[in-house]
Amino acid sequence: MIPENYKGREQALIKHTLLRNYLEKLFMIIGQRQKVICYIDCFAGPWQQEDEATEDTSIAISLNIINECKLALARSNIHVHFRALFVEKKKKSFLKLEKILENKKWSNIEIHKLRGDFFDLRESICSWCDDNSFAFFFIDPTGWKNVVEIDTLRPLLNRKNSEYLINFMFYSILRTHTQGTFNRHMEKIFGETPETSDLSPIERENKIISLYCDRLKYANTDKNDITRLAHVKVLYPTRDRTLYDLVYLTRHHVGIVKFMEVSEKLDIIQNKIRAIAKQNKMVEKSGQTEMFSATAVRQERDKLLELSLIKDYWLEHLSVKPRRFGLVDLADILEETGWFISDIQKAFKELEDEGKVKNYESSRKRSKHVVHFDANNNQGELLGKLNQ
Ligand SMILES: C[S@@+](CC[C@H](N)C(=O)[O-])C[C@H]1O[C@@H](n2cnc3c(N)ncnc32)[C@H](O)[C@@H]1O
Repeated sequence: MIPENYKGREQALIKHTLLRNYLEKLFMIIGQRQKVICYIDCFAGPWQQEDEATEDTSIAISLNIINECKLALARSNIHVHFRALFVEKKKKSFLKLEKILENKKWSNIEIHKLRGDFFDLRESICSWCDDNSFAFFFIDPTGWKNVVEIDTLRPLLNRKNSEYLINFMFYSILRTHTQGTFNRHMEKIFGETPETSDLSPIERENKIISLYCDRLKYANTDKNDITRLAHVKVLYPTRDRTLYDLVYLTRHHVGIVKFMEVSEKLDIIQNKIRAIAKQNKMVEKSGQTEMFSATAVRQERDKLLELSLIKDYWLEHLSVKPRRFGLVDLADILEETGWFISDIQKAFKELEDEGKVKNYESSRKRSKHVVHFDANNNQGELLGKLNQ
């Protein structure tokens, strides 16, 4: 289940799965309306790659997906020009990067590379993107300094017609945010030094990530250019805590819905991968397999709790006078809560079965996709509460 080249760095497998699955959806959608698509890997590597063929790098993963999408679009007579830029600071890694990019299988993609520090190269990166093109920026550093601060990212964030996937090194920030020597850095990231001493570990994590996401969401200096944001947690393979958050920014509500669809599938994959990694570790240490998973029981309990919160949310946002819930509404819920779409559907279904809510546009009982948010030209279906 876990490919040999990802053993011991399962978090990279999770990150790469998200990147691959999201890019595929993105390029197939954006390709319908955009003649030129730019992909920019701001911290390209290769890094800790195991595979001789380098297929386990974000470089090969992105170029393979570009190739596949370009061909698939061409089959529908849509011809998109793809451009890709790879930035890397370290000389040794840059030499390896150059070698990877020489591969003939990517010869129909316009590929560029830049060697240097992301911080210094930000203006060159922005001017490399054609003004009329769509751009996707992948920001996957090894640390946070001179990367994730709002002012550092602002030149990229101010570019219209762009999306971003940013690796926010949560665990590294968690360890440093209370150390006085880092106060000035924390202020650059969060606008303040996060005060977390009285908080539980979960509250502390929530505070840190939401402080950052709120600042990022409103970092764009054009107040009419609304940014939407979602994030997904990547956990340590064998420990129950967050290693980093992959923060996604877009200008479009469909982006949030697609990203959350991919995140939900990723959550299932992540659970499986981590279960195997934990099992392998147990076997390595004691020669025995784990008989009973406390984590699985905890996850089940958290899911039940979350479902009851989602049901409360539905009841609060529905009234006896039915109204349509469309894709924009769905994106709003996802952005506000971070819940998965299937749980939102499941909560509505339970309320429907309890006779508390009604979908006025489904003539027969649906078992899974009880609300079609994309019906009626994405305006959705008429939903209402059955009693006050
Ligand atoms: C986490 S690794 C990238 C991994 C790659 N995205 C992947 O998933 O396969 C970060 C890379 O950024 C490079 N790097 C570190 N600091 C940098 C900087 N300031 N500017 C550009 N590259 C940098 C490192 O040498 C390393 O190769």
